[in-house]
Amino acid sequence: MMESIDHFHTALFIGVMCVVQTMGEICPYSDPGCSCGPYITCYNLQEIPPINTTVDSSQVTSLIFEEGNITSISDNSLPPGLSSLNLYHLPLANISDDAFDASAATLQDIYISRANLYSFPTALKKLTNLTHLSFIDSVIQDWDTATLNQSAATLENLALINVSLPAWPSWISDLYLLRQVDLSWNPLRNIPNDAFSSINDSLTDLNLKGTDLTHIPGALSTLLSLRILDLQNNNFTDLSEFQYITGSPFAHNLSVLYLDFDGLTRVANFSSLAALITLSLSSNRISFVPAGSLPTSLTTLYLSNNSLASVPEDVASMSKLSSLYLSTNIIGEIEQNAFPSSLTILNLANNNLTIITNTTFRNLNLVTSLSLTSNPISTISSAAFSDLVSLQYLYLIGSQLTEIPLALALLNPRINLYFTTTEQLSCPCPPNRQLSEFFTSVGYPAIFPDVCEDGQSVTSYLSGQCQ
Ligand SMILES: *[C@@H]1O[C@H](CO)[C@@H](O)[C@H](O)[C@H]1NC(C)=O
Ligand SMILES: *[C@@H]1O[C@H](CO)[C@@H](O)[C@H](O)[C@H]1NC(C)=O
Ligand SMILES: *[C@@H]1O[C@H](CO)[C@@H](O)[C@H](O)[C@H]1NC(C)=O
Ligand SMILES: *[C@@H]1O[C@H](CO)[C@@H](O)[C@H](O)[C@H]1NC(C)=O
Ligand SMILES: *[C@@H]1O[C@H](CO)[C@@H](O)[C@H](O)[C@H]1NC(C)=O
Ligand SMILES: *[C@@H]1O[C@H](CO)[C@@H](O)[C@H](O)[C@H]1NC(C)=O
Ligand SMILES: *[C@@H]1O[C@H](CO)[C@@H](O)[C@H](O)[C@H]1NC(C)=O
Ligand SMILES: *[C@@H]1O[C@H](CO)[C@@H](O)[C@H](O)[C@H]1NC(C)=O
Ligand SMILES: *[C@@H]1O[C@H](CO)[C@@H](O)[C@H](O)[C@H]1NC(C)=O
Ligand SMILES: *[C@@H]1O[C@H](CO)[C@@H](O)[C@H](O)[C@H]1NC(C)=O
Ligand SMILES: *[C@@H]1O[C@H](CO)[C@@H](O)[C@H](O)[C@H]1NC(C)=O
Ligand SMILES: *[C@@H]1O[C@H](CO)[C@@H](O)[C@H](O)[C@H]1NC(C)=O
Repeated sequence: MMESIDHFHTALFIGVMCVVQTMGEICPYSDPGCSCGPYITCYNLQEIPPINTTVDSSQVTSLIFEEGNITSISDNSLPPGLSSLNLYHLPLANISDDAFDASAATLQDIYISRANLYSFPTALKKLTNLTHLSFIDSVIQDWDTATLNQSAATLENLALINVSLPAWPSWISDLYLLRQVDLSWNPLRNIPNDAFSSINDSLTDLNLKGTDLTHIPGALSTLLSLRILDLQNNNFTDLSEFQYITGSPFAHNLSVLYLDFDGLTRVANFSSLAALITLSLSSNRISFVPAGSLPTSLTTLYLSNNSLASVPEDVASMSKLSSLYLSTNIIGEIEQNAFPSSLTILNLANNNLTIITNTTFRNLNLVTSLSLTSNPISTISSAAFSDLVSLQYLYLIGSQLTEIPLALALLNPRINLYFTTTEQLSCPCPPNRQLSEFFTSVGYPAIFPDVCEDGQSVTSYLSGQCQ
């Protein structure tokens, strides 16, 4: 028995030594800013360190240079056989034509942000296996399309984010394998009707966030396989144009749709999006959601920061809805059975609620987080929280309660409770016995009023030392 344990320890020790040695062995850069392994990460370097060619770097697959002052990548400065290269936030101005040659057949994924490149690096032309290319937060001036065209036979994922792309790039049609396209934060303004002509069946993810669109692109209605569509931060006024989405061939397959910050005052009829899981409509000016406009398939619905006076009627019939965000609206009343019992997260912060009744949160026995912060709540019925048996977080900051609500006594004692009131807290003696017992078992919450109106501390009041 002892012997086998010792063998085990010896084996473990040798194993650990092997790992340490391997880690040391495969470090082709001896700079202290680099940490090595199959993934090399170099942080805040002035330039790319000389590569140690005696080191066997065949195990290195991924290289990250992050921050610092690296301005150029010259020939033979990268380890061979990389599959991924990340150049985060570097003032790169010059990548030599042969810089990627040692990884020409293996490099699949390139990410470049905050570079000072004038154009796409021509070194890309040598890559025969490039599937993912991302350029982020750089001003590209010369759109050398021939370079990208060279990757047409492999490129599946293209992100050109905040690169001053001045219009829809017609050359994207040459990249006939594209599945994911992200052109967010470029002033595109218009999308031509034939924009997706060669990728109409392959495109699954499209991001056009912040592209100065004022019309829903008609070209969307040519897409067959779209799953994720992001149109946030544009400005859409004509609801009938949503037909290009709701009447499209992909309508039954779309799973995620983002329409935040789009200046919407009403919602279109989205009910045909029968597989939609996430719908995001935050930060618009929506005041009413007509019954029968939202799909019942949703698991997550964002409607924060709008002008809703009530919970949309459709919510009640969303039997899979898990997360509902309704903060920063003007909801003053909640109808009975407004919420489905599938909810786990419910955010009602910053609304106009004054009363929480025994039925407001009926049957919500899966909810783990409930926010009622910043509502002028003055009354909470004593059984208001009795169905919330899974609750872990209750936010009641900035209420207008004048007494500690008895409803708290029914909460799980392990609750994280955040409660304040803008009013003076009256503490009638003696305190409710269940409330006292609750606070004895819960310990004192992190955020809770300190003193009663009459000056006694809430702690001593609740512990029965009534004055
Ligand atoms: C290169 O790596 C070898 C180990 O493989 C090491 O002995 C040598 O010191 C390294 N050279 C430099 C310049 O760091
Ligand atoms: C990068 O270079 C600039 C000027 O060349 C210098 O001001 C800055 O401190 C350098 N940054 C780092 C992280 O060394
Ligand atoms: C880029 O580097 C090459 C060789 O390293 C050099 O000849 C060329 O002048 C550089 N270009 C710029 C714009 O710095
Ligand atoms: C592309 O790279 C991957 C991973 O490095 C490799 O498995 C695959 O064989 C390569 N394809 C070609 C055509 O070289
Ligand atoms: C776009 O990139 C510039 C740097 O080139 C950065 O200053 C700016 O914040 C970025 N804009 C967005 C919306 O990310
Ligand atoms: C891209 O390549 C295809 C053929 O491979 C060619 O027909 C097309 O004109 C090229 N486009 C550009 C912009 O070079
Ligand atoms: C969509 O793609 C198919 C083949 O993938 C093609 O035949 C068809 O013309 C395309 N339709 C449009 C509207 O571009
Ligand atoms: C749409 O979804 C259905 C069911 O999930 C699937 O069978 C079909 O292949 C999908 N169509 C496309 C174009 O992705
Ligand atoms: C949105 O478009 C409408 C009409 O085209 C215009 O009146 C409004 O100012 C635009 N809003 C924003 C935020 O650009
Ligand atoms: C939305 O469309 C569906 C199906 O066409 C229809 O049953 C429903 O009444 C419509 N909803 C509204 C609010 O017009
Ligand atoms: C909030 O509710 C009160 C009545 O309880 C009402 O007078 C007030 O107009 C409501 N505020 C908004 C912004 O709807
Ligand atoms: C709420 O329920 C409790 C316990 O069932 C009951 O005592 C109380 O009267 C109810 N409150 C209202 C306003 O119906």
